[in-house]
Amino acid sequence: MSDNQQIPKQRVLIQLDSDPHPSVFDRVVAIDAGVDHVFSYGGLLPAMVRDLVYGAIFTRGVNDLKRTAVFIGGSNVADGEKLLAAARKSFIGPLRVSLLLDSNGANTTAAAAVVVAGRHMALKGARALVLGSSGPVGRRVARLLALAGSIVSVGSRSLDRASEVAEATRAKVNGAQVVPVATGEEEQLAQALLGVELVISSGGPGACLLPRNQRTLAKTIRVVVDLNAVPPEGIEGVKGPDSGVERDGQVAYGAIGVGGLKMKIHKAAIAALFESNDLVLDVEQVLEIGQKLKS
Ligand SMILES: NC(=O)c1ccc[n+]([C@@H]2O[C@H](COP(=O)([O-])OP(=O)(O)OC[C@H]3O[C@@H](n4cnc5c(N)ncnc54)[C@H](OP(=O)(O)O)[C@@H]3O)[C@@H](O)[C@H]2O)c1
Repeated sequence: MSDNQQIPKQRVLIQLDSDPHPSVFDRVVAIDAGVDHVFSYGGLLPAMVRDLVYGAIFTRGVNDLKRTAVFIGGSNVADGEKLLAAARKSFIGPLRVSLLLDSNGANTTAAAAVVVAGRHMALKGARALVLGSSGPVGRRVARLLALAGSIVSVGSRSLDRASEVAEATRAKVNGAQVVPVATGEEEQLAQALLGVELVISSGGPGACLLPRNQRTLAKTIRVVVDLNAVPPEGIEGVKGPDSGVERDGQVAYGAIGVGGLKMKIHKAAIAALFESNDLVLDVEQVLEIGQKLKS
């Protein structure tokens, strides 16, 4: 082939993972989202990112850089955030590529939970309780609900941890209405549920954070979303595959029910990376992508 013949540039996704082995899950999703090649790097520390990003931005002309993008993953969200910051710092003017952060699946999962809740109620002004809010998923759920204008109670077994989440949420969202609550004891949980219309439970695998008797006693609850897929249920009586079904007079979503949308959002976010070379997709941008999806 002669030099002046145009070879269409293939889509290359560079996977930067903080875990020793780059996530197979994230690689498969990338391929299913239409990426031609995934270059995977694991065990990454922030100091290692710059040279990998240079490899991305110095190879193709500016107009072709939208055919190269970076996905940041791994099981630790705080580590992922540091890799994201290092990648952003490595760009040189227009020499940049689009970035997506989805460590621990936290951004796509939180976005999916908030999108499904928003199908059934106006989030602005709604009173919401996030259970298990001190984990990476719960933190992002709290952030998105605060951004949507909900009045958010962030729950934890420890009031100190809840207070730290509230503080972190306020630091991310101007004017966030967020209240820390202890939810580990029955009495505390009953108190936290007063007036709540939406519960999103993001507790650790196999932990029941909301027993059925307390859920049914809380008559103001309209929508419940349980993100825990490992038995027993995180919200007792909400089944994994539930997807907008009625449970005890409340609209219910289980982890598998939310998981379908989470996968669609993940693929749509990957596809969006290749529309331009200047996107930085963190949880707020991932939510916007989710809100545009039909179902
Ligand atoms: N559906 C999906 O696609 C998807 C994707 C990713 C994650 N997930 C699920 O989403 C949930 C949240 O993920 P994550 O990584 O943020 O969870 P995590 O960090 O493991 O746990 C979140 C919080 O749950 C609380 N918790 C843990 N064990 C508990 C127990 N035995 N009893 C009561 N509370 C407990 C802890 O808060 P305190 O100690 O402060 O109380 C912890 O910080 C998990 O169940 C995960 O499996 C689902």
